[in-house]
Amino acid sequence: MLSLIVAYDKNKSIGQENTIPWRLKNDMLRVKDLTTNQTIIMGRKTLDSIGKALPNRINRVLTRDKNTLSHYSNIEVYSDDSILDNIETEKAYIFGGGMIYSRYFDKCDEMFITEVDTIVEADTKFPDFDESEWELISREDFSKDEHNEFNYSFIHYIRRRKE
Ligand SMILES: NC(=O)c1ccc[n+]([C@@H]2O[C@H](COP(=O)([O-])OP(=O)(O)OC[C@H]3O[C@@H](n4cnc5c(N)ncnc54)[C@H](OP(=O)(O)O)[C@@H]3O)[C@@H](O)[C@H]2O)c1
Repeated sequence: MLSLIVAYDKNKSIGQENTIPWRLKNDMLRVKDLTTNQTIIMGRKTLDSIGKALPNRINRVLTRDKNTLSHYSNIEVYSDDSILDNIETEKAYIFGGGMIYSRYFDKCDEMFITEVDTIVEADTKFPDFDESEWELISREDFSKDEHNEFNYSFIHYIRRRKE
């Protein structure tokens, strides 16, 4: 199954100057819980923003220039859509950023969204989508606290399949 994981604000903004524009510890824990022992699929800029492969996951990275990633270890590098082929884990997660979400959105079967209850300055957005094409499986709302600077919601959608 191809899944997608993202955190976006009320405008579907996801990033600014190659960083995540909020501090939400529980979102990071959710990402870890969902993706550990699975495959994550990301663009080169997202890997650069994290700075290293995330542990205990297969890290697949898309770039046009494999040489720029030679200083990273524990990553699998791809230059085309074969990045989606031969996934050996139960799930693979489209992990961002903006270019990768846009490129593979239509192929995803489910989405794990963290909706952040704010509007940030941003240079990168998640693609617009039609919510009626997705079945809401769960939504949990949480209040901000000392480790999570905004209110936020965990949302799980599965794509409605046409009969
Ligand atoms: N809020 C969230 O959940 C979340 C999650 C992930 C990332 N982010 C944020 O998103 C931002 C980064 O997103 P972004 O859109 O700028 O970059 P990105 O999607 O992470 O990476 C873009 C790079 O992927 C490679 N690429 C894209 N399409 C390709 C293709 N068709 N063939 C080969 N390579 C291709 C290129 O690498 P080369 O330039 O090396 O060729 C391109 O520069 C950052 O601010 C990050 O913090 C947010």
